[in-house]
Amino acid sequence: MKIVYMSLTGQTQKFVSKLGMDSLRITMDNSFQTINEPYIVIAPTYDIEVTEILNDFIETADNQSYLRGVCGSGNLNFSELYCFTAKDLAKAYQVPLLLNFEFQGTLNDVNIVKEKVNEIGSTESSSSR
Ligand SMILES: Cc1cc2nc3c(=O)[nH]c(=O)nc-3n(C[C@H](O)[C@H](O)[C@H](O)COP(=O)(O)O)c2cc1C
Repeated sequence: MKIVYMSLTGQTQKFVSKLGMDSLRITMDNSFQTINEPYIVIAPTYDIEVTEILNDFIETADNQSYLRGVCGSGNLNFSELYCFTAKDLAKAYQVPLLLNFEFQGTLNDVNIVKEKVNEIGSTESSSSR
């Protein structure tokens, strides 16, 4: 499972590095590249004008068919807007919202995401047998 993410101020980047998994950082320069393996998206929370490179990536070629879930990084001070980017992505592409966490996440957040990724991976390998 690959981790696909974007990060403007480095918080999501720090979370992803703690996962220790194969990852791909989306920027304006590579948002239309194709992927041919399962992945989850980890999205920081900003206005759609900022995060739409993630939509561009997901909607490129067959990329959406490999999307398995979404996580959000945000700030609880935004109250009802907390992690809306991840919530919107999960809804738009009908995949599970795996976890929302603040900033670079805690060790517990890292472990939860690792566990969920493992669960998804093992479901896939048993259904392909
Ligand atoms: C201009 C701006 C707008 C933000 N808007 C929201 C928001 O609406 N909801 C939220 O949960 N977090 C919001 N955040 C917090 C960021 O999403 C959060 O700090 C995140 O960890 C940043 O990730 P990054 O450093 O990987 O870009 C905002 C931050 C900035 C600077």
